[in-house]
Amino acid sequence: MPHIAVVPGDGIGNEVIAEGLRVLGAVAPDVTWETFDLGAERYLRDGTTMPPEVMRRWREDFDAVYLGALGDPRVPSNVHARDILLGARFQLDLYINFRPVRLLDSRTCPLKDKAPEDIDFVVFRENTEGLYTGIGGQFKRDTDDEVAIEQEMNTRKGVERIVRAAFAWARQHGKRRVCMSDKANAMRHGHDLWQRVFKAVAADYPEIEARHLYVDVLTMQMVLAPEQFDVIVTNNLFGDIVTDLGAALQGGIGLAASGNLNPGVAALFEPVHGSAPDIAGKGIANPLAAVLSAGMLLGHLGRPQVERRIQDAVQACLRDGRVTRELGGTLTTREVGDAVLDSLGGV
Ligand code: NAI
Ligand code: MG
Repeated sequence: MPHIAVVPGDGIGNEVIAEGLRVLGAVAPDVTWETFDLGAERYLRDGTTMPPEVMRRWREDFDAVYLGALGDPRVPSNVHARDILLGARFQLDLYINFRPVRLLDSRTCPLKDKAPEDIDFVVFRENTEGLYTGIGGQFKRDTDDEVAIEQEMNTRKGVERIVRAAFAWARQHGKRRVCMSDKANAMRHGHDLWQRVFKAVAADYPEIEARHLYVDVLTMQMVLAPEQFDVIVTNNLFGDIVTDLGAALQGGIGLAASGNLNPGVAALFEPVHGSAPDIAGKGIANPLAAVLSAGMLLGHLGRPQVERRIQDAVQACLRDGRVTRELGGTLTTREVGDAVLDSLGGV
């Protein structure tokens, strides 16, 4: 029986994960879970961010982790979020940040005349290196001569495994195009490595069109003609940024789901959005990103047909306008959860 670790986390994390778990319980009653009290409240109470014992248990005792969001204005350093989320990504070596960008209903798309078939691609964001490792330093801090250095780390192994994961997924899912994005014209060392590795890996996938776009051009093309993309692979920072743009194309951050993966080792699923302190506690957060993330989790556990059912139920809610305010509806978080459960009965 699959067993999952749940971290509702901070702010709206708690509100949206509650709905995700209701849906999960309805479609996969055999899945059990344990909830972990980790996040800003816990940190403010006793200083705990991420106990090493918990990380060990996530690796050894659970089939997946399901996380809401972390970030709280009462912890300006966000040290707890770094230890928990980046800690899990780095220590469990979750090197793939898998972010599908799929338009479920043309009415939620900010671009004119786009249908669901026009916006349907996935981003493979490198998740363990790049500019997010914290390597660097500050010198002469708080003086006029201050220097701050942030170093981008790219390893051959790290670049190769994310590029290979993107091609392998494309082949497995019958997709024809993989686009790698970097800024090799300006970043001549690290991104030159990306160029060379991309060419080498592409040679193993002759049936797939391997294309390269500089990231500034990529953002433009994602808006002008998103239908040209099947799979995009890029580094940690660029992946973070372009997937927020991708989320906007889908209808907003309230609809974007993601998986942090190391195939065969560990996996963590979470909505792309953060803890949204501006709307936390009001019961108006959109739970659909969390619901779709629960669907991805079930797909990962070998139940693609259940994942599909959840997507169909979410699509039905969008079609019928049973959505939260930011999508033009009137429903609360809980009511959207009800609507998904309702639709599940019918799909
Ligand atoms: P955010 O994603 O929390 O919010 C951005 C905007 O989108 C806000 O206006 C918010 O109200 C809205 N929004 C987000 N999720 C929504 C939902 N489900 N339904 C309706 N509206 C939604 O990003 P922001 O404001 O930059 O960060 C807030 C906190 O969250 C920070 O502490 C940040 O570090 C943290 N964060 C955590 C992430 C994670 O745990 N993976 C990811 C992004 C941010
Ligand atoms: Mg982000």
